Amino acid sequence: MTEDFTEEEKKGLYKAIYSRRDVRSHFTSRSIDDDILARILNAAHHAPSVGFSQPWNFILIKEMITKKKIKNSFEQEKSRSSKLIEEPKRSKYLSFKLEGILESPINLCVTYDPTKFGPFVIGRTSIPEAGLYSVCCAVQNLWLAARTEGIGLGWVSILSNDALKEVLELPEHVVPIAYLCLGYVDEFAQKPDLETAGWLPRLDLKDVVYFEKWQDTENTEWNQIQEMIKTNLDYA
Ligand SMILES: Cc1cc2nc3c(=O)[nH]c(=O)nc-3n(C[C@H](O)[C@H](O)[C@H](O)COP(=O)(O)O)c2cc1C
Repeated sequence: MTEDFTEEEKKGLYKAIYSRRDVRSHFTSRSIDDDILARILNAAHHAPSVGFSQPWNFILIKEMITKKKIKNSFEQEKSRSSKLIEEPKRSKYLSFKLEGILESPINLCVTYDPTKFGPFVIGRTSIPEAGLYSVCCAVQNLWLAARTEGIGLGWVSILSNDALKEVLELPEHVVPIAYLCLGYVDEFAQKPDLETAGWLPRLDLKDVVYFEKWQDTENTEWNQIQEMIKTNLDYA
């Protein structure tokens, strides 16, 4: 597997990246075949991980009784968090559809187990969070693979980790990282829902790239790329 990507293959990867969306609605009733689900999980399992610790587990959920318990936690957390903002933002926030727990055929909890392969993990000795970052890499692989298969995925973080631990019977040391809703959808939006709703804009690439040190956006040694990133290159 040393050969370069062809132009077509490159396009495919970028297409997956730019057209991936967080999906909370538009789920159809079509179920996900097990071979496709296995392929997506395998893509996640091939993510990078600190010290090759593979600290993830994937809990597949399709029982409605479990989904309803999780949805309950979502309702509670959404109401609690809405009290943290003032009107008119509060009403706007409350009007957003921020999960597809019951409508999506498959829910999936991705967890982090810091004890896998013992306490010494190469690369995790100085930054313990590197284990957690590895699980996020697995989620991103999963998200892109799902998009490539035409499957929508929505990440729900408006949940209580305590509730997740109880409902899914996680051991004390295992941390829920991502609760995901998966299913075929009849539409992938062109832009993030929160962008379309005017909640937040996508930042300009030129404003988030610094050269050599924090907040230096004009270092002359980097002239050429500064020109190139003046406009956002996505949706290209
Ligand atoms: C860690 C994480 C947690 C998220 N939690 C939620 C959530 O609870 N509800 C929701 O509707 N979207 C959630 N999202 C999706 C983001 O809102 C979404 O990624 C962002 O608005 C950009 O849209 P896009 O993913 O379609 O590009 C989450 C995304 C991430 C990465």
